[in-house]
Amino acid sequence: MLLTGRIPRHVGIIMDGNGRWAEVRGLPRIEGHRRGAERSKEIIEVSVELGIKALTLYAFSIENWQRPSSEVMTLMKLLEFYLNKELDRLIKKDVVFKAIGEIWKLPEHIQVIIREAEGKTASNKGMRLVIAISYSGRNEILRAVKKMLYSGIRPEELTEEAFNSYLDTAGLPAPDLIIRTSGEMRISNFLLWQGAYSELYFTDTLWPDFTEDEFLLAIQDYQRRERRFGAISVRADAP
Ligand code: FPP
Repeated sequence: MLLTGRIPRHVGIIMDGNGRWAEVRGLPRIEGHRRGAERSKEIIEVSVELGIKALTLYAFSIENWQRPSSEVMTLMKLLEFYLNKELDRLIKKDVVFKAIGEIWKLPEHIQVIIREAEGKTASNKGMRLVIAISYSGRNEILRAVKKMLYSGIRPEELTEEAFNSYLDTAGLPAPDLIIRTSGEMRISNFLLWQGAYSELYFTDTLWPDFTEDEFLLAIQDYQRRERRFGAISVRADAP
């Protein structure tokens, strides 16, 4: 893999288009999710190799609970299958695993697997792999506000940095780059607070077709961006 220039520290991905991928092939939507999950596995591996410090994958939004229960069950089974199957590999690759969102709403046995994966990778030092499940940005912000109020923080102590520490993503850098596949140009409740200055990359490619090469194209595109954070010019590929 040949890629020079600045690597984004934190990449967020809205993995969209699994259903359409399957529908155009006359396959059941769940087959699209299966292929999508395989693609997630590949992109996680590439991210580790590239030296990305944090990768956040949007796997299941709070709104996704409204899908037919058979599809929800399939997505849960896929998560269970991959976490069980890939845990040893994540440990070997020094990855730190974390799930964000309303995890307590997931089936009990999946919560157990998630806690196990978090526990067994907690002392690792490599890439942080964050899976957003039963997650939505506004919900995360509201939960953070509630935690903050219960903590008894005084209004004058409240800074952006302090607020960050109440979010599910506490301790993670803000995403430098957010990718969305499948041609939709929306953020769809993903990392709303954290993504304030993220570079956005949209591609028509459906998630099951989002190969390593497509991922590298997204990163190269990011490297050509000027990041100004509302101030003076900083190119993303500046040293
Ligand atoms: C969006 O496609 C995708 C999802 C709602 C699920 C994403 C989940 C996975 C890729 C599998 C689980 C992940 C891991 C990390 C093992 P869509 O169904 O909204 O597609 P459509 O817009 O074409 O209908």
